[in-house]
Amino acid sequence: PSVSKLHRTGYHFQPIRNWINDPNGPMYYKGVYHLFYQYNPKGAVWGNIVWGHSVSKDLINWKQLQPALYPSKPFDKYGCWSGSATILPGQGPVILYTGVVDKRSNEVQCLAIPANASDPFLTKWVKPDRLNPIVIADHSMNGSVFRDPTTAWLGKDGHWRMLIGGKKKDSGLAYLYRSKDFVKWIRAKHPIHSAKTTGMWECPDFYPVSLNGKNGLDASMTGNSVKHVLKNSLDMTRYEYYTIGTYLQNKDKYIPDNTSEDGWGGLRYDYGNFYASKSFFDPSKNRRIIWGWANESDSKEDDVKKGWAGIQAIPRTVWLDSGGRQLRQWPVEELNTLRGKKVEIGNQKLKKGDYVEVKGITAAQADVEVTLSFSSLDKAEEFDPRWVNAEDLCALKGSNVQGGVGPFGLLTLASQKLEEYTPVFFRIFKASNKHVILMCSDARSSSSNIELYKPSFAGFVDVDLANNMKLSLRSLIDHSVVESFGAGGKTNILSRVYPKLAVKEKAHLFVFNNGNEQITVENLKAWSMKSARRN
Ligand code: FRU
Repeated sequence: PSVSKLHRTGYHFQPIRNWINDPNGPMYYKGVYHLFYQYNPKGAVWGNIVWGHSVSKDLINWKQLQPALYPSKPFDKYGCWSGSATILPGQGPVILYTGVVDKRSNEVQCLAIPANASDPFLTKWVKPDRLNPIVIADHSMNGSVFRDPTTAWLGKDGHWRMLIGGKKKDSGLAYLYRSKDFVKWIRAKHPIHSAKTTGMWECPDFYPVSLNGKNGLDASMTGNSVKHVLKNSLDMTRYEYYTIGTYLQNKDKYIPDNTSEDGWGGLRYDYGNFYASKSFFDPSKNRRIIWGWANESDSKEDDVKKGWAGIQAIPRTVWLDSGGRQLRQWPVEELNTLRGKKVEIGNQKLKKGDYVEVKGITAAQADVEVTLSFSSLDKAEEFDPRWVNAEDLCALKGSNVQGGVGPFGLLTLASQKLEEYTPVFFRIFKASNKHVILMCSDARSSSSNIELYKPSFAGFVDVDLANNMKLSLRSLIDHSVVESFGAGGKTNILSRVYPKLAVKEKAHLFVFNNGNEQITVENLKAWSMKSARRN
């Protein structure tokens, strides 16, 4: 097969060809899911940005429509950049997006409405001239770092609110705007929140989560039974960070809880390749769903050769963990409809150095769920408090560096003789008064191609092992993606990899242990995954 086909995904969203980046304006409307995305209709590199548009009944199988928004007005002449959809009660959807007005990328916020709101596919959008642009930066602001409006929410006072990402000196911030009629917007005196030294906040997202249960909430929900989440994407690090906190609507202030650091160093949706994400509330199944973009990590030249670049991660249901300190995420249940042939392993012991192949499925396009247990933590290696950076620790203690309790986990996209493999694994350390769990998705050994970005992505996992000595892992393997969910979606890591040998039928899957403590595979289920329809 040609290079363009070899690493194309089977069930992760991508358009037929060309470049994509951020997911935009996701929504559920009249029985249809809409996904828009930053799209270059002319090639596989960033540029000529329009809003690509695809529709689905199940979030998995997609039909690509004509672009919904493309530069056509003075206020978006140089690009239709990221934004969000809001469904106005009794009226229909409205898109707020960023228009680029000049070559120096000065940005304004614009509004678009469906030409026909009774068409469930919303194929045609109009940008009313008498309304646009709806927001421009004022003199105190830098108009070239002023973009990505959020979904709006309705306050108890009957006024709409939305956020716009920005930067002041080296602080990142989210400006708050209010409107009575969705057309005339006025900036609040204070941004809803800001943080020093982070650089610009791209693609802010702000939404309520339920304090009890996994159900999602409409953006306008407030009260004692909810917390709020503020997420931003840091241009400087290309990672996303979020906090959980309290939204005081009468003051339009957001105060993050002190359970995690605010700014970079805080919690992340994903500790790998996942950026510019956006959530939406799905009233049909009472859930909130996050879409996130995973960039390529091959070269621009490879992308041009392939004719495509960029995918969307599997849409993830998101909810507040019962501990209240972090979110959890899990692939939407509809993904399971693609599960085909299944193999299972139960009660399999793994001694140090054991690699057991999981045979009988298409290992290059698979879904794997595994629970691994151990009977003691006595052999856990000492944790050095200087190991604050999980990625560095993963690079130091890779899957083939023998340990005490772990490393154990999966070897995905492995060639038969293990010249290539992408390990996804845990390693447990003993700190002064607790255990530290590291989760790693290490691309260093993923390919013999040297012209790739092959990071040792990693994050820590916040699980109390004292009464429950097991860890679970789910990995979605899809040719050039390994998207993993640790401990029921507490720590998640997406890696992009481009094996040369471990492709198609030549890819293998193993479960392994490389620590002194014996590990038990309590249960492993692996499925061949069918391809999604994406025409
Ligand atoms: C994030 C981003 C947004 C911008 C868009 C342009 O990846 O830089 O801030 O609106 O991409 O394509």
